Amino acid sequence: MVDLKINTDKLEGFVSKAAIYSYQQQLVLHQETLLNKTGKGNDFLGWITLPDETDEAMLGSIMQDAREIAAMADIYVVVGIGGSYLGARAVIEALHHNFAGLLTKQERKAPLIVYAGNNISEDYLADLMDVLDRYDYAMTVISKSGTTTEPAIAFRVLRRHLEQKYGKDEACRRIIAITDKSRGALKNLADAEGYKTYVVPDDVGGRYSVLTPVGLLPIAVAGFDIRRFVEGARAMKQLVTTAKTMDENPAFLYAAARNAMYASGKPVEIMVNYQPSLIYITEWWKQLYGESEGKQNRGIFPAGVSFTTDLHSMGQYVQEGLRIIFETVLSIEKPKRDLTVPAETDDADGLNFVAGKRLHEVNRQAELGTLLAHVDGQVPNIVISLPQINEHTLGQLLYFYEFACALSGYLLDVNPFDQPGVEAYKKNMFALLGKPGFEKQTEELRKRLQ
Ligand code: PA5
Repeated sequence: MVDLKINTDKLEGFVSKAAIYSYQQQLVLHQETLLNKTGKGNDFLGWITLPDETDEAMLGSIMQDAREIAAMADIYVVVGIGGSYLGARAVIEALHHNFAGLLTKQERKAPLIVYAGNNISEDYLADLMDVLDRYDYAMTVISKSGTTTEPAIAFRVLRRHLEQKYGKDEACRRIIAITDKSRGALKNLADAEGYKTYVVPDDVGGRYSVLTPVGLLPIAVAGFDIRRFVEGARAMKQLVTTAKTMDENPAFLYAAARNAMYASGKPVEIMVNYQPSLIYITEWWKQLYGESEGKQNRGIFPAGVSFTTDLHSMGQYVQEGLRIIFETVLSIEKPKRDLTVPAETDDADGLNFVAGKRLHEVNRQAELGTLLAHVDGQVPNIVISLPQINEHTLGQLLYFYEFACALSGYLLDVNPFDQPGVEAYKKNMFALLGKPGFEKQTEELRKRLQ
């Protein structure tokens, strides 16, 4: 069953219902194109059927590994960047206790997941090793290409640390590589060293890979139910790949609504949450939509805020800055915990009018009040709601975003499955670092920096 709902009522007055519904026919065609694999990027559509293909054997193997890792490690390091870590982190942080890092392993009932290889900061990695000196740990290194600079450097450093700490044989037992089935530097290294490996399928790009071992292994190690997560995705897949109308298919409505916003002169979409645990869902969504749509000098710019926190920073801009924004609120109906505001005898802060109310009720009214204020300030709002945060609803949500992203990319007439622009910084970085073969560029770039 699908519980995700989408509401576009608060686009009224900005774009007509007819403008949104005008995408209906195109969306049916794009849905077919995706399912028949006849459109742009059609060799990267393996993600569409992942919820059906992830079988008990795969889930069982991952869960067995997760149990073994939990028995040997207090900390699990996930080495990867972009699509090779954001999906796992999004789900783990959404499900975790907000202060999981301050709980004991017994309280958490699972190792603490930490991340590396998503930056090249010397301080970050050195600080991480201070901690890894003191705890038992294991790690996974995730890279489809096997050659991405950030995770490759972090893995060089951490592999040496792990081998020095445990010796080569034991280090080998503590490493799982997730990479291409037959090619690439990481695959070669894993084979040479004898690491256990999982495969990133050829036809699944990084940002669409959360339902492969790339996402599932870290989520399972963190102690969460990957079977429910896949079931949630499967329920959403069944809906968005078959429903043919805007009213039945939430992915149609989201893709149409955001494209109608874009066409009406609103090129910036801000994803809004009211739960700090959802910040990495926004980060994952930013990568998915940014890399999929931002090309050929077009695309909706995906940004994110966490309210009410950012109402005290970005809120001013949203309310009164350039009117180029629309918001999509990810609304959670029910919190996991139960906490009420206490009454105070002197009522010094004047807040006794909310005494006895659940914090969630206060948060909810902040959400509704903000929605109306922003709409009054000419910022249209889409609302996506989930009854609560759990493995099943997150599976639904992530698959929904993926399918809507593919449809939306096709509406924009771009290939949503490539990312050619990511290469530009890499070439310059390699040239500036003096990589053999880049001599001409090295000289040119160094001159430009003088
Ligand atoms: O979505 C993508 O394809 C990218 O974000 C990649 O996941 C990211 O660049 C990491 O690539 P790799 O897994 O090859 O190291």
